[in-house]
Amino acid sequence: GVECLMRIPPSVLKRHNKRDDAWSAFHGKVYNITHYIAFHPGGEKELLRVAGRDGTKLFTSTHAWVNADAMLEPCLVGFLVPEP
Ligand code: HEM
Repeated sequence: GVECLMRIPPSVLKRHNKRDDAWSAFHGKVYNITHYIAFHPGGEKELLRVAGRDGTKLFTSTHAWVNADAMLEPCLVGFLVPEP
């Protein structure tokens, strides 16, 4: 539930930048994309470019019509917040 979600600053997001531990932020929400990587229609390599970082710009420039919010809802881990 929402009460379990974390507040995640960029320095923490950055630790999850591996193929087997990949988080990414889109529109202020942080998702664990690890299990989605293999299913991405645009390929693993492209998706891994945003592992450990805010992928909003790349995501929007490639497919603004894709509803990531709905697709990745089960993978939501928290919200991107400024560095404390
Ligand atoms: C295609 C989802 C992140 C690059 C697609 C498609 C989906 C999708 C559903 C098919 C779209 C269609 O056919 O209309 C996602 C999700 C992402 C994500 C949920 C985030 C977790 C990214 C990122 C990049 C990217 C960060 C670029 C760095 C592409 C490309 C295609 C594609 C190039 C086109 C593949 C093709 O049709 O040949 N993605 N994507 N995606 N995606 Fe992503």
